Amino acid sequence: MSNSDSLLWGAVAGISRFAALLTMADLGVADQLADGPLDTEELAKRCGAHAPSLRRVLRELVSMGVVRRAGSDGYDLTDAGTVLRSDVPDSIRSSIRMIGEDGFWYAMGRLPDTVRTGSSAFVTKHGQVYEYLATKPDTARIFDAYMTARAISFTEALVKQYDFAGVGTLVDVAGGRGHILATVMHSHPDMRGILYDLGHVADGARELLATEGLADRSEAVAGDFFASVPAGADAYLLASVLHNWGDGDAVRILRNVRRAMNPGGRVLVLEAVLPDDDAPHVGKDLDLRMLALLNGARERSREEYATLFAQADLELAEVIELAAGASLLEVRPV
Ligand SMILES: C[S@@+](CC[C@H](N)C(=O)[O-])C[C@H]1O[C@@H](n2cnc3c(N)ncnc32)[C@H](O)[C@@H]1O
Repeated sequence: MSNSDSLLWGAVAGISRFAALLTMADLGVADQLADGPLDTEELAKRCGAHAPSLRRVLRELVSMGVVRRAGSDGYDLTDAGTVLRSDVPDSIRSSIRMIGEDGFWYAMGRLPDTVRTGSSAFVTKHGQVYEYLATKPDTARIFDAYMTARAISFTEALVKQYDFAGVGTLVDVAGGRGHILATVMHSHPDMRGILYDLGHVADGARELLATEGLADRSEAVAGDFFASVPAGADAYLLASVLHNWGDGDAVRILRNVRRAMNPGGRVLVLEAVLPDDDAPHVGKDLDLRMLALLNGARERSREEYATLFAQADLELAEVIELAAGASLLEVRPV
């Protein structure tokens, strides 16, 4: 096989490997193996699975290094597989389940149609993604857990690398469950935090902030960022928000933030900024998910962000590379 053949067939194999991971995540295989190896029959019974089918998936997972054989028909988790457990801090079980969720999987499978027409096949079938999630509480919970897991890879870098001095109140605009806000507030004991998101998401955030012991210096406010955002804060965080919207909508959100912020305030935009080169980058992968799932959504380069900010009377002051392909853009009023 030539190098180019193996490159392409390697990518094709990705679909089986991802489906094996999805099966493992969906059936909770890693949770069942948390206390040690199990025979296939017992594992299948505990996961509610058909043993001969599960055995074939496990064979693929062994070849990927996610589980290993233990005895003649038993399996155990490897270190790599441990992150598929629900109860570990860096769990990616929800992320795998979300990416393989019916609608999201459909979106990627129909990318050719989306590219043909220029409008998302997912939106045509299911409507806007956040409205879709609002009608499916179980899926919405997995989505919020997915966003939480994604953020873990860069929030530690955010609090280490960004100087929050002077930020008395931080608004996390469309902050999801509040995991980023909670991390920042834990490392800044005098900071007040406001989580702003759609109603069903703000309810979940209120719970998380209380569980984190932050209820007395935080609020979770429900609202629509196209109408307004809470006024009078020193900093506004927009993490993985602008990439969900086309330029016109992104500027509307930014103008509402610009209008709401204290004089001398700042906007902190956290996104996977597209590099200028042709090397692989997580932003390029995410960009195809944006293309497939939402009309107008896109990842952007530093220059494209600077152009957006200028349209909202804001200017890009600094870009700080965090981790896992995420960057923080510090933005100030013009
Ligand atoms: C990709 S998630 C990002 C969540 C969080 N900032 C993070 O980084 O994990 C986008 C968020 O935008 C919220 N959202 C969507 N439309 C909104 C609207 N019109 N007003 C307020 N929030 C909205 C969603 O509920 C979701 O929590």
